[in-house]
Amino acid sequence: MAGGGFVVGDGQKTYPGKLTPFVLFTCVVAAMGGLIFGYDIGISGGVTSMPSFLRRFFPSVYRKQQEDATTNQYCQYDSPTLTLFTSSLYLAALISSLVASTVTRKFGRRLSMLFGGILFCAGALINGFAKHVWMLIVGRILLGFGIGFANQSVPLYLSEMAPYKYRGALNIGFQLSITIGILVAEVLNYFFAKIKGGWGWRLSLGGAVVPALIITLGSLVLPDTPNSMIERGKHEKAKTKLRRIRGVDDVSQEFDDLVAASKESQSIEHPWTNLLRRKYRPHLTMAIMIPFFQQLTGINVIMFYAPVLFNTIGFTTDASLMSAVVTGSVNVAATLVSIYGVDKWGRRFLFLEGGTQMLICQAVVAACIGAKFGVDGTPGELPKWYAIVVVTFICIYVAGFAWSWGPLGWLVPSEIFPLEIRSAAQSITVSVNMIFTFIIAQIFLTMLCHLKFGLFLVFAFFVIVMSIFVYIFLPETKGIPIEEMGQVWRSHWYWSRFVEDGEYGNGLEMGKSSSNQGTKHV
Ligand code: BGC
Repeated sequence: MAGGGFVVGDGQKTYPGKLTPFVLFTCVVAAMGGLIFGYDIGISGGVTSMPSFLRRFFPSVYRKQQEDATTNQYCQYDSPTLTLFTSSLYLAALISSLVASTVTRKFGRRLSMLFGGILFCAGALINGFAKHVWMLIVGRILLGFGIGFANQSVPLYLSEMAPYKYRGALNIGFQLSITIGILVAEVLNYFFAKIKGGWGWRLSLGGAVVPALIITLGSLVLPDTPNSMIERGKHEKAKTKLRRIRGVDDVSQEFDDLVAASKESQSIEHPWTNLLRRKYRPHLTMAIMIPFFQQLTGINVIMFYAPVLFNTIGFTTDASLMSAVVTGSVNVAATLVSIYGVDKWGRRFLFLEGGTQMLICQAVVAACIGAKFGVDGTPGELPKWYAIVVVTFICIYVAGFAWSWGPLGWLVPSEIFPLEIRSAAQSITVSVNMIFTFIIAQIFLTMLCHLKFGLFLVFAFFVIVMSIFVYIFLPETKGIPIEEMGQVWRSHWYWSRFVEDGEYGNGLEMGKSSSNQGTKHV
């Protein structure tokens, strides 16, 4: 990422260059990485609610499901192997994203994407042709490795390719492709579940091969980023590429800053221990807390298990999948709202509004489920109005997430880290996200079984905590160039004690050591 820049009067820095068709194309192809992540999030819940799939791989769950509605409905899906099927992927993704950070740095972003695509293809094929549970799990692990590589390299690739003015929009573009992936998976599940003979789940799982092929082939034609070329000593090649990407001849300013930034970051011997320095306390806190809170909204309970959840509260398989399609569409639409509003209304407003919205919905859903299912999980007859109320509030909840913690959970960390800690801090954000995605996926069905409707109140509690956290500790970052970000901490009532004046190392100050010496920072 660009480290310094050309500073003009208003404190904003500019580099010549435009959003060329070339860069747009490369970014669209690269964003397919989000699609494979989303497809996986959306596919497992639908598949695990298909009776033919359960009968074949998880017969005990299938039997419980077939028992009549007088038995405890909260516990019908409580099976550690079933949850392992969903959650193994995130554990694998966590491990491989750490490996991928070395590949991405030493061999370029492209190669990581290529690895990601290939591993993902292999996983999708093994899943599509699975005959035993172990094949399902091995397939999921391979998919997870693929996602680890893709999630590590794609956001980096996008940020480095994008002209700095469009970095925010492109960042949420990645989240948008995640939500589209989830929706596509849910729509396919809906149709494949109808296939006679009950083998539709093979198409659902094997279908992941399509986005995987796109990213595999895409990475073969995509150019590597100039930043990555410089990092690996290919300066001349990098300059030529930068000219092509930006669509202008004079790229020397940006190029010099890239070289300076690369030198600076190479001079830091221990990026991980560097992160522990006192002045990076606010960044480290946010790198950990933001992804932690994002997962504690409970969103993935809906994303992974929406059909299972709807089934539990009395919908038939078909209606459950349809409801999941509805929530998936709301997710995409509300992400578009976020793209529109994030730079107008600000991050804090969206975080707090989204939090309030989610909180109200969680309370209503808990009350509805509690009223009908009680503590013993036996609902009796479920009226139609009841189903409509539950689905409506789940949709309002998803919308609240999709314009707040969804995109901002990735955007805010990526924009607050100064260059010298950016890649290490970003790895922490990704890892924390994966760990908690794993934990939620692994324990949700057991929690539903034991906590019953109270489960929604647990997430509601965390939404209150995270909203207070944002209110007190998160400064507004709207409209502030990344390299100016130091000021938000310096003027913060709490964080200012960690970040002293002049001590804050950021892109701009680093840039001064090279081409920026003559520019005036106002
Ligand atoms: C989260 C995922 C979640 C998705 C839902 C992402 O930002 O990281 O865990 O499933 O949003 O749209």
